[in-house]
Amino acid sequence: MSRKWWHDKVAYQIYPKSFMDTNGDGIGDLRGVISKLDYLKELGVDIIWLSPIYQSPFVDQGYDISDYYKIAEEFGTMEEFDELLAETKKRDMYVLMDLVVNHCSDKHEWFQKALADPYGKYAGYFHFVKGKDGKEPSNYRSYFGGSAWEPVPGTDMYYLHMFAREQPDLNWENPALREEIYKMINWWLDKGLAGFRIDAIINIKKDLDFPSYEPDGPDGLVCCVKMVEEVEGVGEYFEDIKKNTFAKYDAFTVAEVFNMKDDELGEFIGEKGHFSTMFDFSAHMLAQGDKGWYNSRKPEFKAWRSTIFDAQLCLQKVGHAANIIENHDEPRGASRFLPEHARNEAGKKMLATTFLFLYGIPFIYQGQEIGMTNCRKNDISEYDDISTLDQYQEALAAGCTEEQALECCYENSRDNARTPMQWSDGENAGFTTGTPWLPVNPNYTEINVKDQESRPDSVLNHYRKLTALKKSPEYKEVFTYGRFIPDHEDQEGIFAYHRKTDEQDILVAANYGTEPCTLKMNNASAKVLLSNVGTEDVRGQEIAETGAVTLESCEAVVLLLG
Ligand code: GLC
Ligand code: CA
Repeated sequence: MSRKWWHDKVAYQIYPKSFMDTNGDGIGDLRGVISKLDYLKELGVDIIWLSPIYQSPFVDQGYDISDYYKIAEEFGTMEEFDELLAETKKRDMYVLMDLVVNHCSDKHEWFQKALADPYGKYAGYFHFVKGKDGKEPSNYRSYFGGSAWEPVPGTDMYYLHMFAREQPDLNWENPALREEIYKMINWWLDKGLAGFRIDAIINIKKDLDFPSYEPDGPDGLVCCVKMVEEVEGVGEYFEDIKKNTFAKYDAFTVAEVFNMKDDELGEFIGEKGHFSTMFDFSAHMLAQGDKGWYNSRKPEFKAWRSTIFDAQLCLQKVGHAANIIENHDEPRGASRFLPEHARNEAGKKMLATTFLFLYGIPFIYQGQEIGMTNCRKNDISEYDDISTLDQYQEALAAGCTEEQALECCYENSRDNARTPMQWSDGENAGFTTGTPWLPVNPNYTEINVKDQESRPDSVLNHYRKLTALKKSPEYKEVFTYGRFIPDHEDQEGIFAYHRKTDEQDILVAANYGTEPCTLKMNNASAKVLLSNVGTEDVRGQEIAETGAVTLESCEAVVLLLG
């Protein structure tokens, strides 16, 4: 596979609303991002992905865009955005925007014009479809609950929205719409963006017959994803986008793709793939219940490990992966993937070690680098996320008590990862001098950047060591292009793998179990490059003397095998 500029980089996702507020309105802003660039640089970050910062009514926290060419007032101005770009360039950093083009906001000019003239040009930008027997055209349930169809006032038509009713789906079948989108993408790329994270993109292809399917719930509806799974031909759209936009700029694209067809990985991210890469969500899918959050599952260690191993083995044959532990849609990784006994700093550093050296480009989500956790709320009214409100109702409808339904939100809510970044133990975690739009997690007094900067053994400083090792001239090659090879799979609680080139063999090994575990090395020697608990010297000596290494519970090491 040919080499690309981004292969050896470390990426970081910023959720701007919760990152850093500089004007006291309780909402993070672009000035806040600019003020933290040195912090990110020191963390070893090269690429920043900004969740949407476009003008938006924020029904879905910015994933409902009302003007693709404007910066949301809440976040700042276009001048500030340009300044951010310039400041990142100075630091050899790259910026990715979020590209949300399956849908826009119902407040977007196109949709307003479509409503005003439901048979005119702009109606053709959306899916305005005649109802059947005075009812919705089909039985689709939107991803956020309820029918995916909403009446177009004054007509016998409905418009399609696979997400919230305030997020009408765009009609990609229409060449005029595609032109508008390409123009917009190129406008941003001309500004000097490195590329895009591409939102919900698998959904853009619709079956224009909109057939109904067998219901999958007591509401008589079927999740609209069924249509996505059945319809063919989305790849043609992806190729068209690529040809008209990304390819001209050699842009980096990372796609959010669920429900890809099994044999399509190569077409998506292979040498000539539609995208540079896409996120590996396989470990996150493990937690998903088939009904909703109320029947979600805690990923069990062995299943989690084998899921990641399988995904890695498959991905490295085809393209370059993009790895995450958490993002703005998922609960915190430390709360989800760490077993109870490992929910401490050693455990978090172990998880970080396991994650960072996987094959592919790591995306660190804001706060992950200090080990931020899920956040308990006392009442559903304390959540500010459309999906959480829906899932809470679903849980009640399925017979859960309010307490149980709240527990589901604690485990799964998207707001877990959206609480403000914990910068210090000062008021509002140093995020704002005003009232934060979403309350800070009360554990900011213990978990915060300021404290962790002062402690050499903190999670933050461990992340810094990890990125430095990954990018160091000596080991960059093996960590970027080395083969991924699982090892010690038969040993209880051990997560271990090699990264291997013809010249170097690295073993990353971690003990997620509760008991110490001894790993035999079949090597003449081994050098300990890193440990999460300061055992470099002891382990080095132990290996030299016994040819084996014993990892305590929650201990992780990175070894160069000789
Ligand atoms: C993606 C985003 C999510 C958003 C949805 C609709 O899944 O990550 O936050 O709600 O798309 O745009
Ligand atoms: Ca602000």
